[in-house]
Amino acid sequence: MISHSILEECVLEAHNKYKNIQDGKNADYIPYLENIDSSLFGISACMPDGTIITAGDCDYEFGIESISKVATAILAMNQHTPKILMQKIGADATGLPFNSIAAMVDDNNRPSSPLVNAGAMSCCSLIEPIGDKDKKWEEILNIHNKLCGDKLNVIEELYNSESETNYNNRAIAWILKRNGRIYDEPEMSLDLYTRQCSIAVNTKQLAILGGTISNNGINPVTGEVVFDKRVTAKIISLMAIQGFYETSGLWLYQAGIPAKTGVGGGIVGVMPNKFGLAAFSPKLDSTGNSVRAQKAIRYIVKKLNCNVFGCDNSEY
Ligand code: DON
Repeated sequence: MISHSILEECVLEAHNKYKNIQDGKNADYIPYLENIDSSLFGISACMPDGTIITAGDCDYEFGIESISKVATAILAMNQHTPKILMQKIGADATGLPFNSIAAMVDDNNRPSSPLVNAGAMSCCSLIEPIGDKDKKWEEILNIHNKLCGDKLNVIEELYNSESETNYNNRAIAWILKRNGRIYDEPEMSLDLYTRQCSIAVNTKQLAILGGTISNNGINPVTGEVVFDKRVTAKIISLMAIQGFYETSGLWLYQAGIPAKTGVGGGIVGVMPNKFGLAAFSPKLDSTGNSVRAQKAIRYIVKKLNCNVFGCDNSEY
């Protein structure tokens, strides 16, 4: 059992240690993200008893981006079972960037994972009720609200910015259609995906999302049962397999915590049965993952000596 005070000490230390790091740059392929203040840096943790630990800019709301893929995959597994999700979308690493078109052609035309852009659009298409965009959106927003224990909103400026520039994702949606891997209307699935990526979250809410997963589907703050506990190991394994795209293996090797990143600068980690951990800072490395958030999470896990795979006292 990790104590509040030790976790708090590690979170504060990590913030202090990395707050002046300047490496990386904001995502610029979505115009809205390019203009976010790149000095922002926040870290939060959520413990099983609902305690929230924070350091830095933890109230700042940023675009959830690809972390939303975790929530929608949970919803799809809740509605259809993890087995159906695996059969229709896949549960494997693509070894390729998040927006890869090539990722779709090798795995029996499947997108391989609900945690890459192709798989996430396929996942949106699977959400019930098929054919009813407004109700599907209600379901998608609702699972985010329940996981984060709060009522979330879309950043309309981000949504418009992404909608105006998402040519690559539109191409993916139509290739999925051709491959028989989109299970509703392609433009609708693209739009739902774009909208979910534009949901605003702060690190506290993201830590609660991670905390709910680590707590086997029960939100530690609201006490609500958000998803079937049998989904827990499936979503955590998907995060481990594909949470960092082509660098997912390296991340696990170095950090020892299943996690999911977003180009908005957020990362959420899940330490099974222990805590959820979120960090945010807009400057990204070349594969689209926040530099400071990665460093902070790695530091905290190492300091706590709680690598999911066991003892790790190496310098990476
Ligand atoms: O579809 C996109 O490209 C963005 N809305 C999300 C990509 C993303 O967050 C990748 N993660 N690191």
